[in-house]
Amino acid sequence: MSIQFETNSADEDYARAKLSDDEESEDNVTRKRDQSLAANVQPDRDAEADAEADAEPEGSGAANTHVVAHHYNELKEAGRRERHKSKIYFMRNFNNWIKSQLINEYMALIKNQKRVGDALRVLDMCCGKGGDLLKWDKALISHLICTDIADVSVEQCQRRYQDILQRAEKSKYGHKFTAEFFACDSTMVRLRERYKDASLQLNLVSCQFAFHYCFESLSQADCMMRNAAECLEPGGYFIATIPDAYEIMRRLKAAGPDARRFGNDVYSIEFEDDMMTEAPPLFGAKYQFHLEGVVDCPEFLVHFPTLVKLGRKHGLQLIRRSTFADYYKETMPQGRQLLQRMSGLESVQANRCANDEQFKHVAKAFGAQRGRPLGTLSKSEWEATTLYLVCAFKKCKNSWDANGKPIFEFND
Ligand SMILES: C[S@@+](CC[C@H](N)C(=O)[O-])C[C@H]1O[C@@H](n2cnc3c(N)ncnc32)[C@H](O)[C@@H]1O
Repeated sequence: MSIQFETNSADEDYARAKLSDDEESEDNVTRKRDQSLAANVQPDRDAEADAEADAEPEGSGAANTHVVAHHYNELKEAGRRERHKSKIYFMRNFNNWIKSQLINEYMALIKNQKRVGDALRVLDMCCGKGGDLLKWDKALISHLICTDIADVSVEQCQRRYQDILQRAEKSKYGHKFTAEFFACDSTMVRLRERYKDASLQLNLVSCQFAFHYCFESLSQADCMMRNAAECLEPGGYFIATIPDAYEIMRRLKAAGPDARRFGNDVYSIEFEDDMMTEAPPLFGAKYQFHLEGVVDCPEFLVHFPTLVKLGRKHGLQLIRRSTFADYYKETMPQGRQLLQRMSGLESVQANRCANDEQFKHVAKAFGAQRGRPLGTLSKSEWEATTLYLVCAFKKCKNSWDANGKPIFEFND
């Protein structure tokens, strides 16, 4: 099957240009935003200084976490037939493929540093119903910690793990790994205190489609970042998929000068408050996210330079930031077969794209090979999936100062 995407390159260029502005003068941007945009939240101080001072009382500003937990607890898992009928069936598979690519990329780097038989320990933070359990199984890890704020999801995740274990026990070559599960708010609770062994060293921490929830407040973001970082051994990785705040703000502006809402027939983003669109604060920049049949709850813009600074505070160095569109292009050559196996693209015939607005973008690609179908996503699904980016951080080595504070050895 051929694969062809016609991405909106003008849009991508815009986003990249904006990003490189920010990257070039990350400190300036953060400082300026602190002083002008976010002065109402944390006057005259930069995010790192705030994080260090830990000025907000533990647990402040977390008004939305119970709404999020309730939403995910209530969410019913659709059966196979229903999932097939969903307008975002292929996009969900595509997103799942992106996660597989990301997990495989960093597990491979970890395995390169290890010897055969060494333990491989993973934290799946905000694990949901266990959508990544099979990926951990395939990665041949030895121990998994799963946690999520939604207790119903954690129970379901644990049941899925038991099924995987039972199958492995019946099979001669089945891979077995140990696991622990608990429900808790990763933005409020120090996770290591909930591990069976608090001295545990992790090789990988994964937080998929969830880290943005902690950007409700500085204390929550700091707590979640500490949870991601503190048990990682030096050389270990923290990987995440989050909405791209630049892309969100770009689409909002493109929707019109006074627009507070944008989207299509599968997703929408709506800001309730003008202040959030005109001068989004570093934390608490809330919008309502709706994704056909699976998400309908408040989320928060993640100001990327602030995320990077918080990471550094906890010894994590940013090593990758790629939009889904770029990550797809980059990893497609080695991930093509997996993408097909996971049904991450819809197979469309030439006659369909001539008549269907959702598939006009692949019309040109048919050219000479009229008879063969092409794999793609509908326009609406592509617009929804390209709201996201992948990022990866590496845990640095550290020594200690006389006050017992870590001094991290960053490679820059
Ligand atoms: C979009 S789902 C992703 C689930 C899973 N990571 C996946 O990729 O399939 C987001 C998850 O984040 C969880 N979550 C949101 N806020 C959280 C918090 N403060 N602490 C722990 N989990 C949280 C939700 O309960 C939900 O399961």
